[in-house]
Amino acid sequence: MKKTKVRRTDFSFIKVENKSKKVYDSLSKTVFIGKKVLYLPTCHSTNDIAAEIVRAPFFSEGTVVITDQQTAGRGQRGNQWLTSQGQNFTFSLVLKPNFLEISEQFLLSQAVALGVRAYLAQYAPGSCVKWPNDLYIDSRKVGGILIENSLQGTRLAHSIVGIGLNINQQQFEAVRASSLSRETGSTYSLTEEFPRLLQWLESYYLRLRSGRQQEIRQEYLQYLLGYQQQRNFRANERSFRGTIAGISNTGKLQLTLADGTRPEFGVKEIEWTWED
Ligand code: BTN
Repeated sequence: MKKTKVRRTDFSFIKVENKSKKVYDSLSKTVFIGKKVLYLPTCHSTNDIAAEIVRAPFFSEGTVVITDQQTAGRGQRGNQWLTSQGQNFTFSLVLKPNFLEISEQFLLSQAVALGVRAYLAQYAPGSCVKWPNDLYIDSRKVGGILIENSLQGTRLAHSIVGIGLNINQQQFEAVRASSLSRETGSTYSLTEEFPRLLQWLESYYLRLRSGRQQEIRQEYLQYLLGYQQQRNFRANERSFRGTIAGISNTGKLQLTLADGTRPEFGVKEIEWTWED
C-alpha cells in the first residue's frame, strides 16, 4: 500500500490548552519566516514551546511561536524576562542554520540583532546593539535576544531565537528599560508591525545564509553601542575603563586599556557599568 506523507501543520503535538490562530496568522510578506505561526495568549516560555516543536519529527524552518504573556520568560545570564501582558513582542523563531560551524554561531546572534535594530531604526534613528545582542534606543534597553542552539557534528542543527521587544509598554521598574513607544511618543499596532519585523529578520538571515558574513560583522560594529569609545566595566572583581576596540569572530568583547593591553572577555566574564 502506498504511504502518504502526513504533514502536521496544526501544532496538535503541542500540549497547551489555549492555542488560537486569531491574532497572528500565517504571514505573507516573507519567504519562509512566519509562514507558520503558533499564537498562544499565555505560555511559560516561547523558547520552551519552540523546543517542543524542534523535537517533533518534522517542522518547518521559520516557524514562530508568539505570546501575549509568559509566566516563566527567560533572559540572558539566567535572568527572568518580565513584560506587561499584550503590549510587546514576545516570541521565538525556529531556524536551521546548518551552514554555520559552531565556532561561527555568534554570526547568527549578530544577524538577528541587526535585523531587529533595522526594524526599530525605521521609527527610532538612535537604535543600536549593545554587546552581545541587547537592543537599545540611545542609552535605554528596549529588547533582548536569547538564542538556544542544538548541534550536529561541528555545525549548528537548530536554533531557537527568542526575542523580547518592548513596543507599547510605558512603565518599567529598571531605570534603563524602555519601549519603542516611550522613545518615539507613538503607539504601534502589534499585529500590523509583526510582519514588518519578520521581514527584517528574514532579510538579515538570508544575507547570512548567502555567505555575506563580513558584511554582517562590519554592520554590527557600525551599530554597536560604545564602539571605539571609553566605557566603564567590571571584571575579576575590579572596576576599570576601557575602549571597545572590536568583537572577535567568536563574539568576545575586545577592549584596549590605559596600559596598552588588549584583553578579550566572554559574556559571563565582564559587566558593563553605567556612569550614572
Ligand atoms: C535578555 O536577557 O536580554 C534576553 C531576553 C529574551 C527574552 C525572550 S522573550 C521570548 C523568548 N522566550 C523566553 O523565555 N525568552 C525569550
